[in-house]
Amino acid sequence: MRRKLVAGNWKMNLDLASGRSLATALAKDVGSTTAVEVMVCPPFPYLSAIHEILSNSSVRLGAQNCYFEAPGAFTGEIAATMLTDVGCDAVILGHSERRHILGETDEIIRKKITTALAAGLDVVLCVGELKEERLENQTEIVLKRQMSGALDGQDVALLLKHLVVAYEPVWAIGTGLTATPDQAESVHIYLRNWLSMYYNPDLANKVRILYGGSVKPDNARELLGQPNVDGALVGGASLKFEQFQPIVQAARDLTAT
Ligand code: 13P
Repeated sequence: MRRKLVAGNWKMNLDLASGRSLATALAKDVGSTTAVEVMVCPPFPYLSAIHEILSNSSVRLGAQNCYFEAPGAFTGEIAATMLTDVGCDAVILGHSERRHILGETDEIIRKKITTALAAGLDVVLCVGELKEERLENQTEIVLKRQMSGALDGQDVALLLKHLVVAYEPVWAIGTGLTATPDQAESVHIYLRNWLSMYYNPDLANKVRILYGGSVKPDNARELLGQPNVDGALVGGASLKFEQFQPIVQAARDLTAT
């Protein structure tokens, strides 16, 4: 049984004071419960402060990116080992905003994953097609390219331990458009089959595949209720406790039944 994971990607949002109060409310709500995993991914400058707030709870701390090189002369970059140093146990890599706005290639993402895995971080690998790619029936081709581009040559034992995949259709991110539960489920099945064929059935069965793209309190239950949707990567709705908490609660309710 794959434990559900609800992760909040704060992106480049919130200030320190509002990040602190959000984390405080979340730590209180989650406490030490672990039936559902809850994670927040604040901007880099806030990681230490948020870590301190979360340290007495089971809420996990993730980062939104890291660089693929070891610490050294790379002005403005952040090493994977620096993330573990400030209390992160996960990192989001390959987010569509980094692919499409910051120009990250599959090759860069692959190198970042290798480095993050070596540092002991869980990797939340984001994949997803653009609107025009879906309209042209290219979704599976795009996903296959992103998955093999990112995962080719990675250590299978580390992937088994640390890989989480997030399917985030680009047309659903921040748009209010959501993949239907059927659309999400069918892509998640495709990704799981791909993992099974490219690696092995055990890995495919264990890796959690999250859905991301306009997940809100009113659609979370149906999306998270799909057999192959193992959680959510939430952007906008993760910035307010009143919106994020019901998404976490939906995952809890589904886990309890
Ligand atoms: P929204 O939930 O704002 O659509 O963002 C999704 C996302 O990109 C999470 O990584």
